[in-house]
Amino acid sequence: MSQQRIDWTGWLARWDDQQAGYLPDREEQFALMLDVVERITGTPARFLDLACGPGSISARAAERFPAAEITGVDLDPFLLEIARQAVASDRVSFAEADLRAPGWDGVLGDQSLDAVCSATALHWLDPADLTTLAQTLAQRIRPGGIFLNADTMRLGPTEVPRLDALAVELRDQIWSTSHANGVEDWETWWKAAAAEPAFTALLTERETRFADRHKGRDITLTDTVEAFRKAGFAEVAVLGQVADKHLFAAIR
Ligand SMILES: C[S@@+](CC[C@H](N)C(=O)[O-])C[C@H]1O[C@@H](n2cnc3c(N)ncnc32)[C@H](O)[C@@H]1O
Repeated sequence: MSQQRIDWTGWLARWDDQQAGYLPDREEQFALMLDVVERITGTPARFLDLACGPGSISARAAERFPAAEITGVDLDPFLLEIARQAVASDRVSFAEADLRAPGWDGVLGDQSLDAVCSATALHWLDPADLTTLAQTLAQRIRPGGIFLNADTMRLGPTEVPRLDALAVELRDQIWSTSHANGVEDWETWWKAAAAEPAFTALLTERETRFADRHKGRDITLTDTVEAFRKAGFAEVAVLGQVADKHLFAAIR
């Protein structure tokens, strides 16, 4: 079936609506991330949207930084196809890579990066993968460049069990309220995609790529801080927090 009739921009917008149910004030968070990038690095020349999905951050970065070269990297062939169809331009490109694989950053060529932003994605990794990822980013981001991540980072089930449980409860409450207010949830979005025959091949490939998705222990805030400190980032801090969602920043 031809993909000509697919409303790619519509799928991206529907994704954005769905994701807003999981990251409180997602649009404001993205705007804040780009503000921070500009304040720390000036206008970035090379920007990476890490685990970009269908390109939400890439699209906003392209608008905000009209001279920047933007790359989105992800493992999901279906979400990348939405990104390529809805967002790609001569300044914005998308590449496939598994962030757990050594040397994944080969897809970026040999240039260094001014800024790397990520949202609601790195909690898919195990803590050991995050440590390696931070080391790779430390080599890729130029001195004075920045890494920002808006994502779930557990407070620490063993370090602070009551506060950790409370934060998860508060997070679940935020999600339930969003969904009770009619925001589409993750499962419904993916069911709708699966009902579109033109997507079948990409979704089948997606299943294969994530078949070995390992769900070890959840990444904590301490894991994140330690990974980026040990990797050699000069300054590491949390810029914002709601329940277990943190806006984490690390200056190289
Ligand atoms: C919830 S989505 C968020 C996408 C996007 N950052 C956003 O905010 O809309 C999580 C993303 O992480 C990607 N991802 C998870 N594990 C990955 C891995 N090992 N390598 C590359 N991408 C990965 C998924 O494919 C998915 O696109």
